[in-house]
Amino acid sequence: MTAASPSPFDFDSPIERRGSGCFKWDSNPSADTLPMFVADMDFKAPEPVLQALQQRVAHGVFGYTWVRDEYFDAVNNWFSRRHNFPIERDWILPTIGIVPAVSAILKAFTEDASSHVGVMVQTPVYHCFFSSIRRMGCDIVESPLVADAQGVYQIDFEQFEQQAALPTTRVFLLCHPHNPSGRVWSIHELIRMGEICAKHGVTVVSDEIHCDLMFPGLTHTPFATLTPEFKDSCITLSSPSKTFNLAGLQIANIVIANRRLRSKVQKALFAHELQGVNPFGVEGLIAAYNEGEAWLDALRDYLQDNYQYIQEQLATHLPEITVYPQQATYLAWIDCSALGLNGDELAKKLLQEGELRISSGMGFLPFSGAHGDQQNHFIRLNFACPRSVLDEGLQRMFRVLKPLRE
Ligand SMILES: Cc1ncc(COP(=O)(O)O)c(C=O)c1O
Repeated sequence: MTAASPSPFDFDSPIERRGSGCFKWDSNPSADTLPMFVADMDFKAPEPVLQALQQRVAHGVFGYTWVRDEYFDAVNNWFSRRHNFPIERDWILPTIGIVPAVSAILKAFTEDASSHVGVMVQTPVYHCFFSSIRRMGCDIVESPLVADAQGVYQIDFEQFEQQAALPTTRVFLLCHPHNPSGRVWSIHELIRMGEICAKHGVTVVSDEIHCDLMFPGLTHTPFATLTPEFKDSCITLSSPSKTFNLAGLQIANIVIANRRLRSKVQKALFAHELQGVNPFGVEGLIAAYNEGEAWLDALRDYLQDNYQYIQEQLATHLPEITVYPQQATYLAWIDCSALGLNGDELAKKLLQEGELRISSGMGFLPFSGAHGDQQNHFIRLNFACPRSVLDEGLQRMFRVLKPLRE
């Protein structure tokens, strides 16, 4: 047997991000705060991406961008190769981010609606879904996920169908894979959700921004690939920004096979001036999709190891709290019910007493805080960082939370 060769990619060395104008590290109450909240990684982008950006900078002229063929080919090749989803050039609408895309799509649905537009979401879910829905004047239609005894979120299909059948429900915003839990929906679940939506005339908008971050050995099934009917009626949202840590480059794609639906969304993009992208986003995407594959596969190994490390550390030092089982993403969804504080209280305590900034689980509920009294006892912890940084974060967490057991 030959020993495995060491990874040529360095995910272990911490990178000083303070002072780089970085939201994650520069927006905290003190320089000593350890941020493990917002979903960006503390890793450099793959080397080919850095080289492509440097080359573009060296050119020195940064006028308006034309998205060239190579970009569309890179998207098509990536999705064909990695996700068995060939994407025709015409289906792709490049834009500056998934959240602006969601808002524009919802706007498109309100234009031809005679009443309020209801948008279904499976809660807890990515908090910007709520802000987009609210800002576009739509209604949040909640379909809560139900955790089973193992902490695996299940869909209450009866309730899901009741919500889809409401006369105002027009859109289902699917988070696939799911943020914050890292749950990967099965083909059976996806088909059942899709069929219910089709039956009630609800358009599925599948946000697949986390699709490349499956744990090793697992594959992602794009919603659009499940049936020809789904492909012809759904909207897929994708971006290299989570995968390769390029969020600041602001590049994303709206993928719509159906020409009429595409032109409706394109109109909304134009109306909101969201059709223009920047040169760095274009170069970054091309390099990442064409040359970032080996880096990504090494990253997925590293992330899974970090996740396992969290599991082990919790089991050893604070077994009262548990991290939910997950199959994708770098966001750990941690159930702290046994400690008696809600998510907001835990987040505040960790920040004030441990200088650890994590996300309160309550941010992933639509009617908590200023919007209502929904509560949970979760925190979400971003573990896309060197192991030594993760370890420091966990130590801070244990110092603050252990005394709560007594
Ligand atoms: C499910 C989901 N969608 C969208 C985004 C953000 O996308 P963008 O930065 O392209 O607006 C995130 C970021 O965490 C996310 O988790």
